[in-house]
Amino acid sequence: MKNIVIAIDGPSASGKSTVSKAVAKVLNYIYVDSGSLYRAVAWFALKKNLSFNNPEFIIEELNNSNLLFFSKNNQIFFEIEDYQPVKELRSKIVRENVAEIASKSVIRKFVVSKLKEFNTFGNLVIEGRDIGSIVYPDAEYKFFLNADLEERANRRYQELIDAGESENSKEVLESIRSRDKIDTSREQDPLIVAPGSKVIDSTNMSLSEVINLIISEISDD
Ligand code: CDP
Repeated sequence: MKNIVIAIDGPSASGKSTVSKAVAKVLNYIYVDSGSLYRAVAWFALKKNLSFNNPEFIIEELNNSNLLFFSKNNQIFFEIEDYQPVKELRSKIVRENVAEIASKSVIRKFVVSKLKEFNTFGNLVIEGRDIGSIVYPDAEYKFFLNADLEERANRRYQELIDAGESENSKEVLESIRSRDKIDTSREQDPLIVAPGSKVIDSTNMSLSEVINLIISEISDD
């Protein structure tokens, strides 16, 4: 039987991660954070001091790094050179460089090819920017989660403060604005509303309202 894919796309800090994790939990599906793969490539390139101007070499090094994907507790994780980066992927340096890394077409091709294999692990809830348009254009369900820039910046600022980071709210807003710009204007697989997506504007919605809306769309079928 074919595994089911639920694609949840949208810009930074639109609530995708929390919503996708919750939907996966309710349905007992596997949760995939596609952004973590782009973050991992950025982290790897920065750690090894590889030039962003030679993305082919970054991929060559990654192919020699023993990159391994596995599913645990209904989530996909990975190891690079026998190490599992987690906290490093949310660091400021990675945050500031990931959109540039993700705009390189060879890097996107590499990550997309990995993501396309994940449905062999089981039914998926997968969040990202291009899941419904490029990675799984035939996904059974597609959602596009959005919210106003100010609201998204407030949410991300709060998240970072809660995680113990010392942040400046203006800087957080500017970093999201700049990432939005790179993500929507890049040539390769830009952030778009994929055909067939249900758009949800969560500016004035609570997380549980968004989660319930998605679950109700799915159980209506
Ligand atoms: O949590 P947040 O939305 O800020 O970031 P993320 O989902 O971890 O994605 C980090 C970056 O990876 C984004 O700004 C995009 O540049 C890139 N990305 C992408 O290009 N395509 C995806 N499917 C997922 C992430």
